[in-house]
Amino acid sequence: MTSARVAAIPGDGIGTEVMDSAKAVLARLLPLTGDNIAWTDLDWSCERYLTEGALMPDDGLGLLREHDAVLLGAVGWPGVPDHVSLWGLLIPIRRMFQQYVNLRPVRVMEGVPSPLRPDLAEGVDLLIVRENSEGEYSEIGGRFGAGTPVESAFQQSVFTRTGVERIARFAAERAERRRGRIVAATKSNGIIHTMPFWDEVVAETTAHYSVETTFEHIDALAAKLVLHPARYDVVLGSNLFGDILSDLAAGVCGSIGIAPSANVDPTGTYPSMFEPVHGSAPDIAGRGIANPVGMLWSTVMMLEHLGAARAAGLLMEAIAETLRDPATRTADIGGTADTAAVTDAVISHVTRSAA
Ligand code: NAD
Ligand code: IPM
Ligand code: MN
Repeated sequence: MTSARVAAIPGDGIGTEVMDSAKAVLARLLPLTGDNIAWTDLDWSCERYLTEGALMPDDGLGLLREHDAVLLGAVGWPGVPDHVSLWGLLIPIRRMFQQYVNLRPVRVMEGVPSPLRPDLAEGVDLLIVRENSEGEYSEIGGRFGAGTPVESAFQQSVFTRTGVERIARFAAERAERRRGRIVAATKSNGIIHTMPFWDEVVAETTAHYSVETTFEHIDALAAKLVLHPARYDVVLGSNLFGDILSDLAAGVCGSIGIAPSANVDPTGTYPSMFEPVHGSAPDIAGRGIANPVGMLWSTVMMLEHLGAARAAGLLMEAIAETLRDPATRTADIGGTADTAAVTDAVISHVTRSAA
């Protein structure tokens, strides 16, 4: 990359605080590596919804489409129902831009205390590959019969062969470049019709690669990810299972404040979107204490995606250095530093190592 167009959507709550951090770091890093980002700053948020009646303008997706990537803080704020904010921004971007892969790397980072015993936390390095376009998050369903004795709510899961095959292929390609093992989350022992189909298609698809694929029931897998997280390499999950496992795995590594994610359209037809795994954290928003690492690590993933390999490498190393120093850790990982102090530390590490 020498130059890229990136749409920045800070969103709500700590989304704006961690976005400021990422932009401050990139403003110092990119000139050092000869890269450039032309930013489009978008105030799409719950606040916009309350004043203008929509989280984004009618032609919002068309505007995003003109960019090479989207960097997102978080959306959602008390006072605006989550189904309104999420279906008004986040989910349409993932869907319309066919970002069918949600990539969520999880590593125990030196200096970040895991709640697990040190021998269990040692060497945790897994990649969650989450299906990001269908499954349990389908648009089919609704609430019916309000105020009647038969009031009810329905949600129809949708698993298509095309959808399962393409995510299984992606997981297998990644696993081949890692340690060659996929564990797919399932629930085929329940009475869920979709899961035996998921298992069959994942097994058939990944059989064409040099990988070993096994299936674990989601309930047991949740326990094993806590008891033996270092045994896992690629964890493949449907939309809902992958969502839950990614917060679980982030917790195992110390905090959801450090967990990154990328919503990728592997065909490159549409812009991909990079965002931390966490949300807007209303309980700590506005205090300047949010951990920016999840956002900065997501920025690393964006730089890699855009082909800025040197900048990505320098930033990842600076994040690791910052976490190693107890003085530059935020409260969620046992420190006392604020967002600004962590940002400054990352900037000073990148500028020193690029020199
Ligand atoms: P959350 O991730 O916002 O917060 C969960 C807990 O983790 C809170 O105690 C919070 O303080 C803490 N936390 C999260 N990020 C942190 C950080 N960077 N540093 C320190 N602590 C951090 O999840 P929630 O409370 O379930 O959701 C709050 C809102 O965010 C909701 O409206 C939800 O829909 C939305 N949300 C949005 C996204 C997204 O935009 N991708 C993701 C998750 C949740
Ligand atoms: C995430 C979030 C979203 C999801 C919500 C906010 C819709 O939890 O990105 O992990 O479930 O995908
Ligand atoms: Mn989630």
